[in-house]
Amino acid sequence: MNDFVYYSPTKFCFGRGQVDAVGAEMAAAGFGKVLLVYGKGSVVRSGVLDRVKASLQAAGIAFAEAGGVRPNPEIEWVRAAIATGREQGVEGILAVGGGSVIDASKAVAFGIPHDGDVWEFFAKKLPITACLPITAVLTIPAAGSEASGSCVISNDAENRKVGVNGDIFRPKLAIMDPTLTFTLPPYQTAAGVTDMVAHICERYFSGVGPVPVTDNIATGLVRALVEAAPRAIADPEDYDARAAIMWAGMLAHNDLAGCGRSVDPARRAGGWESHALEHELSAHYPEITHGAGLAVMMPAWMRYVWRTDPQRFLDFGAEVFGVEPFDGDAALSEEAVEEAVLETIDALKDFFVSLGMPKTLAAFGLTPDDIDAFLETLRVNKGEPFGAFQPLTMEDARAIYESAF
Ligand code: NZQ
Ligand code: ZN
Repeated sequence: MNDFVYYSPTKFCFGRGQVDAVGAEMAAAGFGKVLLVYGKGSVVRSGVLDRVKASLQAAGIAFAEAGGVRPNPEIEWVRAAIATGREQGVEGILAVGGGSVIDASKAVAFGIPHDGDVWEFFAKKLPITACLPITAVLTIPAAGSEASGSCVISNDAENRKVGVNGDIFRPKLAIMDPTLTFTLPPYQTAAGVTDMVAHICERYFSGVGPVPVTDNIATGLVRALVEAAPRAIADPEDYDARAAIMWAGMLAHNDLAGCGRSVDPARRAGGWESHALEHELSAHYPEITHGAGLAVMMPAWMRYVWRTDPQRFLDFGAEVFGVEPFDGDAALSEEAVEEAVLETIDALKDFFVSLGMPKTLAAFGLTPDDIDAFLETLRVNKGEPFGAFQPLTMEDARAIYESAF
């Protein structure tokens, strides 16, 4: 087990009706006036926003509003909300939504105290040393932003989507009410589950050998998701399935599933290769849902790199899908290993597809002609080579993209 630092400062309020306690919880946590941030309207239609406002009013917490965050949030929206937040003199941020709303809120929270342009943090990787406190009311389990030390923002003018990391903007408080996710359409439910499985796999296939405590958490979480996701799709109001998915999504990305799997204790475990490959898709085509892009890119990446450490894939396949290579009594032949690894990768991909996720990049309307543009920004964002399980050059990345059509 490698050295690690695990820091998860968020208070979680989990369960039915918790959304109505958001005001009281924020008052108890010492929040002053907040900027209430939300997306394109799902929380208006579902009535969640009204419940949040009523709870704030009852607790005496003043707020200003900034709605309209789009999926794959954009830096121009963040700049405008920073201006609103400053004008209104807010002292904290309340995000009501999913990863996009929470990430936009994080950027506003560290953008308000910053004298320069907020994109400097993403472009120049300036250290983030000041940040307003954040509460998140989660409405879609997926990105894990409610407890993660990540914030991912797009810049359409530059065709880039860039993440920054830091503990300073991990939310102080996360309200996790699974009943808020009953209104999620199947596609978003499936994309969310795919994203959490990817967050676990990026850490599991981190280039570090077995770490049994962490590995059992990781594969246990994936098993729980494989069991719960079809139930939530079949019956959107299956509370236990929704609750399992919501909690697993947080555990998948607050770093618990990576303890001891990092090469550098100050950094998150894993090389995040599938995420790097996917972020180029949704940077160039913001209408592509992050999890759906991962459903295609992660199995393609796995097929390309598994030979670097086949045992890791055998362990994952055995624990999650019960894949047991059969080769009589002898030591496993290369063919038996390959068969079991490919069966594992196929099982993972089939799981995503069974939930309604796309099989290929062509399903997004992309063509191989898009690859050059993806590689251009990938090189800027990740450098070359990049990754931890197996270092990847841009030619490797090209081969992976090509194999995904
Ligand atoms: O905008 P509204 O109208 O609210 O609709 C949203 C949006 O269209 C809808 N939705 C959310 N809750 C709903 C609902 N519809 C019905 N009922 C509800 N209860 O779902 C759509 C997707 O929302 P979004 O917030 O974009 O989804 P997600 O949570 O998957 O976030 C994706 C973003 O997070 C980033 C992704 O790259 C992407 O930009 N990520 C952030 C990470 C982090 N901060 O740690 C890590 C991830 O790897 C990821 O990169
Ligand atoms: Zn993700």
